[in-house]
Amino acid sequence: MFKKIPGTRDILPDHVSSWQGIEDVSRRLFSLYNYKEIRPPLIEEAGLFNRSLGDAAEIVQKQMFLIQKAEDVYALRPEGTASIVRAYVENNLDKTAGFEKFFYIGPMFRMERPQKGRLRQFHHIGCEAIGSRAPELDVEVISMADNLLRAFSIEGYTIVINSLGCAEDRKHFGGFLKDALNDHLPALCEDCRVRYGRNILRILDCKNEGCKAIVNNLSLQNAHLCDVCRDDFEQVRNGLKVLGVNHEVSPCLVRGLDYYTGTVFEIKHPTLGPQQDALGAGGRYDNLVKELGGPETGAIGFALGVERLLLAAQNPPVRPAAKLVYIIPLGEDARQHGIILLHTLRKNNISADTDYESRSLKGAMRRANDLKACYVLIIGDDELKKNTVMCKDMAAGKQEEIPETGLVEYLTR
Ligand code: HAM
Repeated sequence: MFKKIPGTRDILPDHVSSWQGIEDVSRRLFSLYNYKEIRPPLIEEAGLFNRSLGDAAEIVQKQMFLIQKAEDVYALRPEGTASIVRAYVENNLDKTAGFEKFFYIGPMFRMERPQKGRLRQFHHIGCEAIGSRAPELDVEVISMADNLLRAFSIEGYTIVINSLGCAEDRKHFGGFLKDALNDHLPALCEDCRVRYGRNILRILDCKNEGCKAIVNNLSLQNAHLCDVCRDDFEQVRNGLKVLGVNHEVSPCLVRGLDYYTGTVFEIKHPTLGPQQDALGAGGRYDNLVKELGGPETGAIGFALGVERLLLAAQNPPVRPAAKLVYIIPLGEDARQHGIILLHTLRKNNISADTDYESRSLKGAMRRANDLKACYVLIIGDDELKKNTVMCKDMAAGKQEEIPETGLVEYLTR
């Protein structure tokens, strides 16, 4: 028997309503902020991610699902930002619209070691606002993430923010860290010794206790930021304060992808454990549009992990199920008639189903209960003769004989 690949999930019908609830709430909120849905392909040229996330990024190094066809190497998308910037540039949206706000909902793929909250196929709800460097946009994006989490009824999360500054600031900061960590190299974990040469900023968010202690002793204070970046960051912080968005600043928050500049943020939640405690993350990527062949322009976005949202939400929103009418025909003639009635109800936008298995009345009623039907329509010989149905209101436990001519009106009143 075939089994699903580790780190993938079957989202069964019983669970789909909370997925739909999360998606419905997101769509409504994104629309309030004027973000438009975009659906890029799930598969892209692998080079797009190498170029955008950086060759040293863990995702590129270890986690991409690659497919080689002759000379071409494709990747199942590990994230959405690079695809959306590619789509923005390729479709000339910079020329027609300039400033564009997108949202997306869909699966992402990373070859990770599966565990709670960490999957190989997981889902993002994300947004990307491309075409502005205004700090007010950072405030909009972070406060929108906050509002989404509130709308999902998630509590106890912390929004942590930092500024990586511009490319020049990042370079200075990298140099400062090289000097500061040089003497501590032997005490760093094996991964961080590699990071020291390849991606030094990542040492700051290493989860290893020894590395954390060394980093904490560095007393980082955003001192690497130039005047413009420091001003922008101040504006972002003030804007969040004015809107009442609680947040903490952590100079150790660096994110692992090359494209980030300026404001970065992560939303942490304790139920997920220290290894993967982020419900979502995002930040500015002011150089990526140019890097991928577009104009020099600012951009910012975030992505929330849906599986983690569902772990953290005590009471996730659910999409209400349609009210179901269940037809139980008793006998062959009633069965034929039931099929026509079923068709009529569906044509009148009433969700309806029947018992094709000719179960006993008791068995069919049990099935109606399992399906949470609101009404059961019983058709026997008597009802057939009189052109009526026996209609049972399942919640009220009441039964009434209804003429078929008035049935649609009765059920939709
Ligand atoms: P990321 O931090 O790699 O950022 O992913 C965002 C969120 O996706 C994480 O905080 C987590 O909730 C979820 N996530 C990541 N990997 C997994 C996994 N293996 N299993 C389950 N959930 C996972 C990005 O992808 C950026 N593109 C975000 C962004 C958008 N930055 C700017 N715009």
